Amino acid sequence: MTKLKVYEYPHPVLKQKADKVSEVDDEMRALLDDMLETMYAENGCGLAAPQVGVSKRAVVIDIAREDEEPAPLYMVNPEIVWHSEETEVCEEGCLSLPAMRAEVERPAAVRIRYLDYNGKACELLAEDFLAVAAQHELDHLDGILYIDHLSRLKRQMVVKKLEKSRREKNDG
Ligand code: NI
Repeated sequence: MTKLKVYEYPHPVLKQKADKVSEVDDEMRALLDDMLETMYAENGCGLAAPQVGVSKRAVVIDIAREDEEPAPLYMVNPEIVWHSEETEVCEEGCLSLPAMRAEVERPAAVRIRYLDYNGKACELLAEDFLAVAAQHELDHLDGILYIDHLSRLKRQMVVKKLEKSRREKNDG
């Protein structure tokens, strides 16, 4: 497994609509393995293929806490087939916008149809934090970042803070 480079905002690959995966083959599984390793190395709980510069519809998620066993979830060609009317607000971050966080409102529960690591068709009801993580990662496949859900003012605040932290990093 190889740790991959994570592309950061505003790289254009993050704004692209990703392509459907035709088959979950060994090449796809190798990408999923590398994505998982990259996500763990960066202490993330989700990563979408566009974030490593691959415009394909694939995500990895693991919301297990540090004191729990790893529980990786691989989703290829995921689709939300149902979402709750009820919404919840949760603070989100993204490896493509390092060190930034903001509150985002999303449906509290979603049902997702996807292909797993072996290409098997699956369905999952995601609730609580898994619902947040899954919707955040699936958004990446359509070129949507969590800051796109914020008001213009709040989005500008996050982007300004990100630019400032980058300047400080370069100066220091
Ligand atoms: Ni993200």
